Amino acid sequence: MSKVKRSWEKRLAGEPDKLTVDFVESLSYDKRLYKYDIVGSIAHAQMLAEQKLITNDEFKKIKNGLIEISEEIAAGRFKFDKQHEDIHMAIEAAMIAKIGEAGEKLHTGRSRNDQVAADIRLWMRDEIEILRAKITLLQQAFVKLADEYADDIMPGYTHLQHAQPIVIAAYLLSFVEQFERDYIRLKSCNDLLNVSPLGSGAIAGSTLPIDRKSTAKQLGFSDISYNTIDAVGDRDFCVEFIFNCALIATHLSRFAEDWIIFCSSEFDFVWLDDSFCTSSSLMPQKRNPDLLELIRAKTGSVYGALIAMLTILKGQPSSYNRDLQEDKVHIFAAADTVEACLDVAQAIVSTAKFNTEKISSHLDEGFLDATSLADYLVEKGVSFRKAHGIVGSLVAYCEKQKKKLSRLSLDEFGKYVTVVDKDVYEYLGAKNVVSKYASEAAAGPKQAKRQIVYWKKELDTRYLMLDSRKRRK
Ligand code: ARG
Repeated sequence: MSKVKRSWEKRLAGEPDKLTVDFVESLSYDKRLYKYDIVGSIAHAQMLAEQKLITNDEFKKIKNGLIEISEEIAAGRFKFDKQHEDIHMAIEAAMIAKIGEAGEKLHTGRSRNDQVAADIRLWMRDEIEILRAKITLLQQAFVKLADEYADDIMPGYTHLQHAQPIVIAAYLLSFVEQFERDYIRLKSCNDLLNVSPLGSGAIAGSTLPIDRKSTAKQLGFSDISYNTIDAVGDRDFCVEFIFNCALIATHLSRFAEDWIIFCSSEFDFVWLDDSFCTSSSLMPQKRNPDLLELIRAKTGSVYGALIAMLTILKGQPSSYNRDLQEDKVHIFAAADTVEACLDVAQAIVSTAKFNTEKISSHLDEGFLDATSLADYLVEKGVSFRKAHGIVGSLVAYCEKQKKKLSRLSLDEFGKYVTVVDKDVYEYLGAKNVVSKYASEAAAGPKQAKRQIVYWKKELDTRYLMLDSRKRRK
């Protein structure tokens, strides 16, 4: 290892052991924060100039040096050396090497403890935007598919048993709702994390006349944090961010599980595009939904990140401890995994087809219209509990006779209940049932179509907004 200049070399004798260098470094993974570290440093330097702690000339030199370093990193020209421990030290050392003494003033009134806390928050704000854009794209894919199947009926399942008929669109829109909550949760995570820890120093702030509000304003934070001890030790927002990722992963895993089942020969409800299937090295006939299985599995990795982050914080002494360095391992892993899963899910949904013929052939099974028949009896004046019992007996009778409810004669109905008339047949059969759904947001075609109109408009405007905000950066 060649010797590097370290800011603390006057304090510690000799060189650190190789084990130390390898073990404490975070540069290998925190270098992805470089842009945020540099904008944070420019804001800090500008504030130092405003407060006359450095001259305007020094500020300009620092700023230009940092911009050059940013360009070198972006172009892959920067030589990272893990002996610098982390991205903060790597950039500072490079800047001092570039501009000399002025560079040595950048760290005035600052510690890596408040610096890293600010960097992560800046990174997370952007990452939240990216995740929200990807969620929107996935929602749009679901809505588009829903639009294609707004009148097609499928069995609705509870306990994975036939429950009541629903339109395929309503089933697909159920995912749009889940991801909508994730979208909103990410926004509120962003609102909570958007305060500036800069100026908190190592733990206690500074005796120098630094202006925390200036850096906060320059970096677009909505406020500053109001306790420096808490500010350097707070990683609540990392837990919350990973939790949001974990819940997105949960939703994705439930979708994946449904479709894995729907792709089986027994169901054959969904057809995935060849480009998103894999095959077997042995069995030539196979078309496997491996991507969906991996989405399901990766949920475990995101949960792992959440538990890791919580455990890193649990029982940790107040303020900053080096334990906190590990936060990045887990926030990056959670974000990367969920980003990839959202992309894959969107691609799969955008290219999938529902096998409506096969689905229709199942609609006569499992007495999907039994609840509708009970509702019919209620409309004829029978109490719901009695109606439930009567329909239960009719279903048991049908099972023995190998009949459907819709195939029973009025005489057969008459053996169990007196109020049934020939209008009963309008309530039987899956198609009749879904068209009879009357309550708001029910799983029928009328309601689904209304929701599709709503979502199309909402998501189109939203995507444009997200996009333009990204463009402005
Ligand atoms: N790499 C460190 C981290 O990510 C930066 C802060 C180190 N601070 C310190 N006092 N050792 O947390």
